[in-house]
Amino acid sequence: MTVTHPSGPVPAAAAYLDHAATTPLSAAAREAFVDELSRTGNPSSLHAAGRAARRTVEEARESIAAALGARPSEVVFTAGGTEADNLAIKGLFWGRRTTDPRRLRIVVSAVEHHAVLDPAFWMAEHAGAEIVLLPVDGEGRVDLAALRAEIAEHADEIALISVMWANNEVGTLQPVQEVVQLARPHGIPVHSDAVQAVGQVPVDFAASGLDAMTVSGHKLGGPVGVGALVARRDAPLTPVLHGGGQERGVRSGTLDAPAIRAFGVAVAEAVARREERAAHLAALRDELVAGVRERVPDALLSGPEPGSGDRVAARLPGNAHFTFPGAEGDSLLYLLDSAGVQASTGSACQAGVPQPSHVLLAMGVPEQDARGALRFTLGVTSTPDDVARLLDALPPAVERARAAGLASGPTRTAVPSRAGGAA
Ligand SMILES: Cc1ncc(COP(=O)(O)O)c(C=O)c1O
Repeated sequence: MTVTHPSGPVPAAAAYLDHAATTPLSAAAREAFVDELSRTGNPSSLHAAGRAARRTVEEARESIAAALGARPSEVVFTAGGTEADNLAIKGLFWGRRTTDPRRLRIVVSAVEHHAVLDPAFWMAEHAGAEIVLLPVDGEGRVDLAALRAEIAEHADEIALISVMWANNEVGTLQPVQEVVQLARPHGIPVHSDAVQAVGQVPVDFAASGLDAMTVSGHKLGGPVGVGALVARRDAPLTPVLHGGGQERGVRSGTLDAPAIRAFGVAVAEAVARREERAAHLAALRDELVAGVRERVPDALLSGPEPGSGDRVAARLPGNAHFTFPGAEGDSLLYLLDSAGVQASTGSACQAGVPQPSHVLLAMGVPEQDARGALRFTLGVTSTPDDVARLLDALPPAVERARAAGLASGPTRTAVPSRAGGAA
């Protein structure tokens, strides 16, 4: 049976295994969103309607702050994770450099999302920044010895450090607290993109010691187009958007009360139910990993091996990522899609040519293997049937993709080609 969709028929019972790209709006968030859409009032207006909208926004701010171990005044609403990352990278760079012009170095891990990497490289092209890419190990974990060496040599020239909480492709968790401990004695602000982490692993802003942290609504059951930069009041943040002076002057723009209210509901729900949901996700993920290995024995799991003890804390519970040597990830994606299984290669396409992921290349995965990458991510609505459907569809898809072979295309290095400064 198929259902009609503006883009064409889609299988009614497709197995959705791409929750890291976006996950369904929760019922409670949808209810809050729809209810608020029928109200009018700019939270900056002084009349009763405006004050009611302001109350809605402030209640959401309080609930997000409580869920994330922050103070309400530290929550700066944005239009999503990309904007919050841009504000962190550009804002902290400009803020720190203004008080100390020697601070030109932006230190980021080589496996950051493009929402962090691209603003950093833009600052190198347009604002005199020097980029330092921190290497990672074979599981995608940032090399703390390299950070220690960078700080030992250049502490007074570093404007900021940004290391993500959890990687969106391979699910690796980063040692954020250790990064903060290395940076703090030198007064270097640290930002972490926690977009994939909130709701999956414990995230406490105050306990982390971070200066700024990014959160996004649509990765945790809230709407698309709303997020926040949680930032300490004393973080040196220069505004990126100028206008009406909302959000303590750091982020101008009329506040989106419906999206913010729904975001508040979603964050509170995702954090309150995290433990129980993470256990469900990890059990399904383990089933998926074991099943893929059984059916395609030469598939290679990327990132940390899921397991017990310390390994539980090494990887997001809902993430499984494989490379299938000899197959093109895009071919696999389309073949699985036509069998009703929706997954992701995790990396970008440029001018229609599939590109190996910068994350896998930084982890030392050979380019040929990196081209056969496929990411499966689970969420609240995932079921054993979804996993079973994937396991049925995968072997013939891999066989066909291997028969089609690897498309030829330009090669790429782990360091984005427009990189400037030290590596
Ligand atoms: C780690 C990470 N950071 C940032 C973003 C961007 O967030 P948004 O889609 O809200 O702009 C994403 C989304 O894919 C992500 O996975």
